[in-house]
Amino acid sequence: MKVNNLENFWMPFTNNTDFKADPRMIISAKGMYYTSSEGKKILDGTAGLWCVNAGHGHSKIIEAVTKAVNTLDYAPNFDFGHPDAYELSNRLSMQFPININHFFYTNSGSEAVDTALKIVLAYQRSRGKGTETRLIGCERGYYGVGFGVISVGGMVKNRMYFGSLLSGIDHIRHTHGSIKNPYSRGEVEHGAKLADDLERLVGLHDASTIAAVVVEPFATSTIPYSFMMKSSPALAALAL
Ligand SMILES: Cc1ncc(COP(=O)(O)O)c(C=O)c1O
Repeated sequence: MKVNNLENFWMPFTNNTDFKADPRMIISAKGMYYTSSEGKKILDGTAGLWCVNAGHGHSKIIEAVTKAVNTLDYAPNFDFGHPDAYELSNRLSMQFPININHFFYTNSGSEAVDTALKIVLAYQRSRGKGTETRLIGCERGYYGVGFGVISVGGMVKNRMYFGSLLSGIDHIRHTHGSIKNPYSRGEVEHGAKLADDLERLVGLHDASTIAAVVVEPFATSTIPYSFMMKSSPALAALAL
């Protein structure tokens, strides 16, 4: 399939000029593979952007989506409910640890983390801890594209471009270790000192000012491209 005009679509996290000079198009997907516009099969080593984990075009998912769209394609959740949202929440509460039993749905990871930050601020205020407003994230952490998540996140270019962001944020060091971590099994032996960073920040700001800490146990999105190429041929294949 040839696209004649590449001008009007602006791609995220992409050098658009370079892409247009040498476009790589994916035109279909099934199971574990994409097919490129040249008919080449490409192993999807990252399951989309970590979001197609059951495989592409899974018949049960197609069936469920078709049924949902045919039955009730949209209904508001403002003062109206619909049974499936309750049913899903009940089922999720059975899967999660016993104290994780309330669910709030969003359209993306960015919105989910931003919403979690808002919920935690409202929670602290409603229990009389209105001074607990500081949010702590990880250097190099990636939590999405909104202002809140960029502020708590540690992706340098995002922080550089979008200025002072939210106030009252601090960061502990990241957990990505390209020298010591690759190919390790289970929990790595080093790294406890990274948790000490949090104690240092508690000492600096005082616990009574801290609302929440956002931590990713291992880095994914923010791993540098060069490391990704070395460490994961599957990711590299997708990227190429
Ligand atoms: C840890 C983490 N949080 C949040 C996000 C943002 O998710 P979304 O792209 O759905 O907004 C991502 C996306 O890669 C992520 O890896």
